[in-house]
Amino acid sequence: MNKINVGLIGFGNVGSGVVKILREKKHLLSKKIGVEINIKKICDKDLASKRSISVEKSLLTRSPKEIIEDPQTDVVVELIGGIHPAKEYVVQALKSGKHIVTANKALLAQEGRELFALARDREKNIYFEASVGAGIPIIKALREGLVANKFHSIFGIVNGTSNFVLSQMSRNNCSFAQALSEAKARGFAEKDPSLDINGIDSAHKLILLTYLCFGKLASFNDIFVEGISHISISDINYARELGLEIKLLAIAKIEKGELEVRVHPTLIPKTHLLSSVEGIVNSIYVSSDLAGNLLFYGPGAGQLCAASAVVSHLVDITKDIKAGLFKSVLNNVPDPSVKKLRKIDEIESRYYIRFMAMDKPGVLARVSGILAKFGISVASVNQKERRKAHIVPIVMIIHEAKEKNLRQALVTIDRLNVVKPKSVAIRMEEV
Ligand SMILES: NC(=O)c1ccc[n+]([C@@H]2O[C@H](COP(=O)([O-])OP(=O)(O)OC[C@H]3O[C@@H](n4cnc5c(N)ncnc54)[C@H](OP(=O)(O)O)[C@@H]3O)[C@@H](O)[C@H]2O)c1
Repeated sequence: MNKINVGLIGFGNVGSGVVKILREKKHLLSKKIGVEINIKKICDKDLASKRSISVEKSLLTRSPKEIIEDPQTDVVVELIGGIHPAKEYVVQALKSGKHIVTANKALLAQEGRELFALARDREKNIYFEASVGAGIPIIKALREGLVANKFHSIFGIVNGTSNFVLSQMSRNNCSFAQALSEAKARGFAEKDPSLDINGIDSAHKLILLTYLCFGKLASFNDIFVEGISHISISDINYARELGLEIKLLAIAKIEKGELEVRVHPTLIPKTHLLSSVEGIVNSIYVSSDLAGNLLFYGPGAGQLCAASAVVSHLVDITKDIKAGLFKSVLNNVPDPSVKKLRKIDEIESRYYIRFMAMDKPGVLARVSGILAKFGISVASVNQKERRKAHIVPIVMIIHEAKEKNLRQALVTIDRLNVVKPKSVAIRMEEV
């Protein structure tokens, strides 16, 4: 065996990065693995637009069948994104005996159960490193480097757009809308950024991380997802005064035998490493029994870093084919200590709450009384500056409380005629 043949579907940003790396590092890679990785065909809808790398016309096609049905092609790299027709291409490719490399987190988060089962059935692999944290080798680290570990928790800043927006608000004291328009102007946010800002992209990545750490392939509906669009600059500033920073975190952790899987804005101590992760950078903090606490950090998007992860998998597959091995990359086994998924109502957390109240005697006592009625105790209270019409912001830090109780208490507080709806609650994590 002196070469493996690769068919690439999707010659866009990442796809052209893959071709670029395989061309520019051809000799280095061949020397390292003793086999040539050969791009046999490239499929894209659009063959006219100029790419960052030019290729011979004979390599290009508009027909994915020319790749999927080619008996000489060993690996199909899917880089078109989205669910359909990416799913159909992956299914057909697995059925015709190809390994798959993809960067498509949305596809695997939604259709992973079926696709991973099919891959196992056909003794083929689906590799997906670039789908989380682009070039950060987090998937490989969880699957291989930490294989003997039991994981306690994973906290990830896995969406660069949201992290840029929150960092921008915090650094420049500007509104969410201003920070988002800056992100768009600098090419860090899509025209429609809703998947990023609403936490959906982070949830897709969390599904994959949870699968690798805890052996549980959660469905999207199992995950509590809250985005960042309601975060105000006032809350960022009040939190900072308390030594806290707001980050959109993807969280998976075991609490008393139950697995919590959630994405939401989270207050963490300013002293924690994750709080200094700024801009479009991604970072994942993993706690495990043997290796302890580990931090992975790096660019979460970009042509060459995502393509670097894709190429690393092409090397893995080449080595396996060369050795005549099939080792499933999904060697994760369900963690036996996880009894069930915990619903968001049942989680227990500390909270930051802020409400706007009339500056009158007795208001705080009424609010505290409601919290006490729901079994919630207050760790600290701060009344902020006097505002127009004598409405003042009051910030409280709440001791560990059940989410359901806190929600019910806030609904009751928001109904008081001395409080303006709607109060804000942000979960806190010690990490
Ligand atoms: N960009 C990053 O930094 C990054 C990082 C990590 C992971 N990813 C993931 O990598 C994947 C690719 O992202 P990308 O940034 O490279 O996207 P992209 O630049 O939009 O590239 C996708 C390419 O596929 C083509 N295409 C779409 N549907 C097709 C079909 N049915 N048949 C053939 N070609 C088709 C597109 O053509 P048209 O433009 O004509 O539609 C486009 O040229 C996505 O799953 C993304 O989530 C990207």
